[in-house]
Amino acid sequence: MLVAYARLRLRPEEPPYATFVVSMDWQEAFREARDRLTRSMALMALVVVLTLFLARRMGRVAILAGLDSLMAAADRLGKGDLTARAEAGAGGLEIRRLAATFNDMAQGLQTRDTALRQQDRELARTRNLLGNILESMPSAIIALDEQGLVTHCNANAQALCALSPEQAMGRKPADVLPLLAAHLETLQQALRQRQVRRVEHERVRLDGVEHLFDLQFYPLVANGVNGAVIRLDDVTERERLREMMIQSEKMASVGGLAAGMAHEINNPLSSILQAAQVCLMQCDPAIESNRKAAEECACTIEAVRCYIERRRIVKFLEGIRDAGKRAAQIVSSMLEFSRKSESRRAPANVNAVVDHALALAATDYDLKKKYDFKQIEIIRDYAQDLPEVSCTKTEIEQVLLNLFKNAAQAMAHRPDPGRRPAITVRTRRDEERVRIEVRDNGPGMEEQVRARIFGPFFTTKEPGEGTGLGLSVSYFIIVTNHGGTIRAESQPGQGAAFLIELPLGGRA
Ligand SMILES: Nc1ncnc2c1ncn2[C@@H]1O[C@H](COP(=O)(O)OP(=O)(O)OP(=O)(O)O)[C@@H](O)[C@H]1O
Ligand SMILES: [Mg+2]
Repeated sequence: MLVAYARLRLRPEEPPYATFVVSMDWQEAFREARDRLTRSMALMALVVVLTLFLARRMGRVAILAGLDSLMAAADRLGKGDLTARAEAGAGGLEIRRLAATFNDMAQGLQTRDTALRQQDRELARTRNLLGNILESMPSAIIALDEQGLVTHCNANAQALCALSPEQAMGRKPADVLPLLAAHLETLQQALRQRQVRRVEHERVRLDGVEHLFDLQFYPLVANGVNGAVIRLDDVTERERLREMMIQSEKMASVGGLAAGMAHEINNPLSSILQAAQVCLMQCDPAIESNRKAAEECACTIEAVRCYIERRRIVKFLEGIRDAGKRAAQIVSSMLEFSRKSESRRAPANVNAVVDHALALAATDYDLKKKYDFKQIEIIRDYAQDLPEVSCTKTEIEQVLLNLFKNAAQAMAHRPDPGRRPAITVRTRRDEERVRIEVRDNGPGMEEQVRARIFGPFFTTKEPGEGTGLGLSVSYFIIVTNHGGTIRAESQPGQGAAFLIELPLGGRA
């Protein structure tokens, strides 16, 4: 309760005559004040809450605006868009700094990415260039890594291995190309010594045809040996041309020499032959002058005849005559080396020439003595649309006869009980040339023999059986007289094939 009082004086000098007391309930007295306070407090609280709410709201808007842009940029960057950038001006100071750092980093990444892409393009270009160079090389190239496994095969190597690059990749070289199995030691040597190693004239059969390959093993040396390259070159054609050139040179020198020798030998030889013939005639009792001469010597021609037969003089004389005839044949063969035959050249059907030569071979008396040509199966595989070839028919027949005779002799000399001797004659047109192939299924030849067969006087036959002139004369006829080529393919036990090519227009 609130109480207040006041003394009442009428005059200042007089004592108070009354006291006024006023009282009031405390609650009542302060109600208004309290209400005001409460209202003020509530208002203040409201203002504080509102301020806080607004401050939070505004703070969030300011921070999130920067963060959102940063997060969106980071998201795009993460997905590979290196042009993504955060908004630099949004958000508070820290957010702006963060955005600036982020943008610097993205710029750095973009610059590096551009440089990498450029390097990538250059790398691809270089790889393409190297690939093209490797592919355009005439050699077969096989690259190996440091474990010795295949990492690359160019087109020629793929053709040689009959494998696709995927099939060859990661395999051992000998699995990819069996011919390399025999040369792994050479490869190891090249790697050990860090030097190129070469193997020449490796024989390989491809589609039934023998090829010669030169092999080269290159170690790849950088910081140590980190692989190798194997290069294979098919040198069959080059070797064939080389052989032919050597042969032509030999023939050129033999031509002059043989002609000179033949002329020199011819004169004394005809004297010997003539003398032997005359001696035989002079002992013939049927000739009157012989009888007369015997009588003048107090003897009969029969007695003379009896004597020379008893002493086998006729046999010796016949021996001289036969040997002389043989020598004369050799001399006439040798004369072929210097003879030109252009004048007798005429267009001829090669199939008919071959047929005629086969017919001659079947009736050749000498041939029959050694073997029966009729026992040999003759397989004719002629091209029907063959154009005529300008040639000297008799000479080509002589060459073919020579080849048939050689084949028949080889097959008779070393018969194979398991198969019937056969000669296949094939004719084909090959662009501006006609090819004649004579193939037998006889014993074939060793490489050392094959390399020498066109040389004059080279023979493997018994003395008296072959002169070794047959193929050299054939060579001369085909190459020098007709501008063609002749070569032999053979392997021991695999028969022999002679391939003749004649230009359509005669001498090339
Ligand atoms: N078809 C063949 N098979 C196996 N070897 C052959 C064949 N043809 C030729 N030769 C070999 O080539 C050699 C030379 O042949 P070439 O015809 O020049 O002489 P030749 O036959 O020995 O003697 P000539 O022809 O004077 O009778 C032969 O001795 C033989 O060794
Ligand atoms: Mg011969």
